[in-house]
Order: sequence, then C-alpha cells, then structure tokens
Amino acid sequence: MNFELKTFDIAGAANEKCDALIVLLSQSFKPGKDVLSTLVAQALKAGDLETKPGKSLVVYRPAGMACSRAVLASVGDGSAKEVRQAVSAAVAAVKAVNVKKLAICFATLPQENAVRAAVMAVAEASYVFTTTKSKPEGRAIQRVVLGLQNSPKVKAVFDRSVAAVTGSEFAKEWANRPANYATPTLLAGAARALAKLPNIKCEVLGPKEVAKLAMGSFMAVAQGSEEPLRFIVLRYDGAVKSEAPTVLVGKGITFDSGGISIKPAAEMDEMKFDMSGAASVLGVFRALAELKPAINVVGLIPSCENLINGRAVKPGDVVTSMSGQTIEILNTDAEGRLVLCDALTYAERFKPRAVVDIATLTGACVVALGAVRSGLFSANDELAAALLSAGDASLDLCWRMPLDDDYEEGLKSNFADVANVGGRAGGAITAAKFLQRFTGAFPWAHLDIAGTAWKSGAAKGATGRPVALLLEYLLTSAKHK
Ligand code: BES
Ligand code: MN
Ligand code: ZN
Repeated sequence: MNFELKTFDIAGAANEKCDALIVLLSQSFKPGKDVLSTLVAQALKAGDLETKPGKSLVVYRPAGMACSRAVLASVGDGSAKEVRQAVSAAVAAVKAVNVKKLAICFATLPQENAVRAAVMAVAEASYVFTTTKSKPEGRAIQRVVLGLQNSPKVKAVFDRSVAAVTGSEFAKEWANRPANYATPTLLAGAARALAKLPNIKCEVLGPKEVAKLAMGSFMAVAQGSEEPLRFIVLRYDGAVKSEAPTVLVGKGITFDSGGISIKPAAEMDEMKFDMSGAASVLGVFRALAELKPAINVVGLIPSCENLINGRAVKPGDVVTSMSGQTIEILNTDAEGRLVLCDALTYAERFKPRAVVDIATLTGACVVALGAVRSGLFSANDELAAALLSAGDASLDLCWRMPLDDDYEEGLKSNFADVANVGGRAGGAITAAKFLQRFTGAFPWAHLDIAGTAWKSGAAKGATGRPVALLLEYLLTSAKHK
C-alpha cells in the first residue's frame, strides 16, 4: 500500500479521481460554496448525516465529483481517537467493493496526530494476512492519498506514520505466522533479509556460539525442542560509531507450550504470538531503514520454542545464567524471563545509552491492563517518561507500573540465587523484578505487551504493537541528545 501526501482542501477534493473519497467532518466545519460542501450541507440538513462522532453516510457517484463514492464521516472535535474510529468505519464501509485508490480529505485543518490516526486506521482496517491461505486475496487498497495543507511539520508526522505502518505490518506478518512458518531459524532468516536494507547489519548465533557465551538460562528453555535456538543480533548504524546505541531486546519464543509446566489446551494456539516482542524489534528495524535517522540501534532476539521432549528442563532444575547468577526453574512456563536475562547480559557489551526489552511476558499483565495499554516498567524516571510520552504521541499507549524492591521477596530460592517465579500476586511485577537483576550496567525499561500484541476472538491477529511507540521513542530521543 502506497501513501501520498497532496495539497488539497474540501473544494479540491471534489476533483480527486479515486474509487472512494473519505471526507472527515469535524464539528467546526463551515460549508463553503463548493460542490462537496454543498453535498455535506444538504445531507446534514436532511438528517441523513449527523455531526456526532461515528456517524457516516456513503454517497455513490456524487454529482460533479471525480470520485466513485464519497464517505462523509463525522469526527466530533477531530481528536486522534475519533479520526481513527471514523476512518476505520469508513474503510470497513467500502471494503466489500473493489476500492483500489482511496483519498482522504480533512474538511477542517487537522491536528498533527489526526494525520497519524488516519494513516494508521487505513492500514489497520485494510490489513489481511495471506501467507498461509491457498488462494490468497490480498488487500484491495493500493494507493492512499491524503489531502492536507502541506507544511514541514505535517510532512514529518506523515513520513513517521507511514514508516510506523510499514514496520508494524512487518511485525504483524511475522507474529501472525503459525509456529511452523516462523521457527527460530525462519525468524533469523527474516532478520538476515533486513540486513539488505540501508544501514542494517545482522549476525545470527546458533547453539554452539550460545553455549560458548554460557547462556545457560536461554539454553535451558531451548533444550526441550528439536528446533535449534537462534540468537539474532541486528545493528542499525545511522550515526557515528562513537555514539552509544539504544538496545532493543525482543522475546522470541516462537511457540510457548509451557514446557513440563504445560499450559491448558484452550487457546494454546495463541502462544504462536509469543514472539511478538521479537517481531516488534524486526518491525522497528524495517521502519528505521525507511526513515534513516542519525542514530545507532541494536536489536537482540533470543529465539527458541518452549516445548517438551525427553531432555526438557524440569521444575526444580537449577541453571547458570550468562551473568553467573544461578536460577531455580520452579515453573517452566515462566520461560520468557529465562531467555531475556541472558540477552540483557549480552547487551552490556554495547555500552548502551538505554536498553528496552519487549515481551509477551505475563498473563498477569493482561489482567492488570487489558488490551489498551502495554505495561511499562523502569526504575529510571527519565527513560520511563520518554517511553510514556512516545506512547501518547504515537497512539500506542503504555502505563507505568511499580518496581518496589518488596516485590522481589517472592523470588527467593533455597537452592539458587533466584527463583524464576514468585507467587500469583503481582505476577507482572515479579517478572519485571526478575529481569531487573540483570540490568545493573545500563538504564533499562521493560514493556510487557502480553495484552496488547494480539487480539483474540473473531478478529484474532497481531496488532503490530509496540512498533509505533518504539520508533517514536528512538526518533525523539535522537533529537534531544
Ligand atoms: N507467554 C506467556 C505469557 C502470556 C500468557 C502472554 C497469556 C499472553 C497471554 C508466558 O511465558 C507465561 O507463560 N507466563 C506465565 C508466568 C507464570 C508461570 C509465573 C503466566 O503468565 O501465566
Ligand atoms: Mn510461558
Ligand atoms: Zn511465554
């Protein structure tokens, strides 16, 4: 799908040749004398359209206009949320017909985040996963034209939004793939393919190299599967070498059965999404290649399956992590933290300015925050504030959770330095406390995306989150250095 920015207002929109024109009408809209304004005014007067957000009207072959269909959609005060909802509904309304070229016109001057909302909503509402269909029917929409008052600021938001969409869709593709189409080896292949893009390099470590690094915790999870582990190292070098990179660490469990502490059968298929953190890291690199900012970023992905064979790790087993800390694995289903802790130790060698890990880590985070906000954990106020506001700006929200040392109590072990689980209470926080033990050498934040990375039910599928948040954070932090 191709996005274009054009300069036209509501009068000019009538001349835009397209299969569907979405006209976003805010409450402050004052109709002029042009043909489209007149149409809107008539529809409002007749009661066929209301200015309340969420109301819309489809007009077929409107007289005097170049579009085949016009969708008049009310967006209330024009906030990002309302624009997003209105565009989603408008795209859904014309989805059944073969709309190849779509145009969007803002009837009044939009706020910047309304531009982002419109781009995101078109992409979301028209996305289709086809990789495992025998007769793939891809998305119909090929071109999307946004009619706006062009300015450098609008152009910057537009470029960033389009890149975020490209990155999110890359993340969605990999997260949506079933585990047999997205093994650790295939995931490493996707990372290697990214290294063909500008400024990106990729290195992939296998079982031998990982054993040499003494990643005993990561290896313990991987040993229950025939599928060999991969440790993926991506680099985006947009700035001079001397500039400290930001490191992103993505949980890459391509299937989480729970291991010997096996999960119940219901909805276990959704554990193919347990590499959504890894997919988001890949997505961010995809987006960086589009925007080519002057920053350095490292992506680390520990990837394996959490399965059960005769060699699988058992509850009570004690393993030695790369950091030297020993871990008593009381529950083999708390595997995310076991693969991440070794990747966090590995991150030290980059002398990072900050490390952010992204993981579908706990069911407890789903209980705490649902599907709206990702859980954000950091002892560093500055880093936490930067991620929180990047979430707001990119419409990819998160919420800060506590990290008091008292929460670590439950992780005490009689047999190792630390246990891999605490009690049920505060499960998202004890998981974060576990990870924190491996992050002494750099500013660190953890995003628990268990509730936000995918949707269940009829609309089951990856969301591509938090690619937009991470990208916004990276680009903004580059500006402030
Ligand atoms: N991948 C899961 C977390 C998860 C569960 C994400 C459900 C989304 C939906 C993770 O590996 C896991 O199993 N966590 C356990 C931890 C527990 C054993 C302490 C959990 O949340 O139940
Ligand atoms: Mn698990
Ligand atoms: Zn998991």
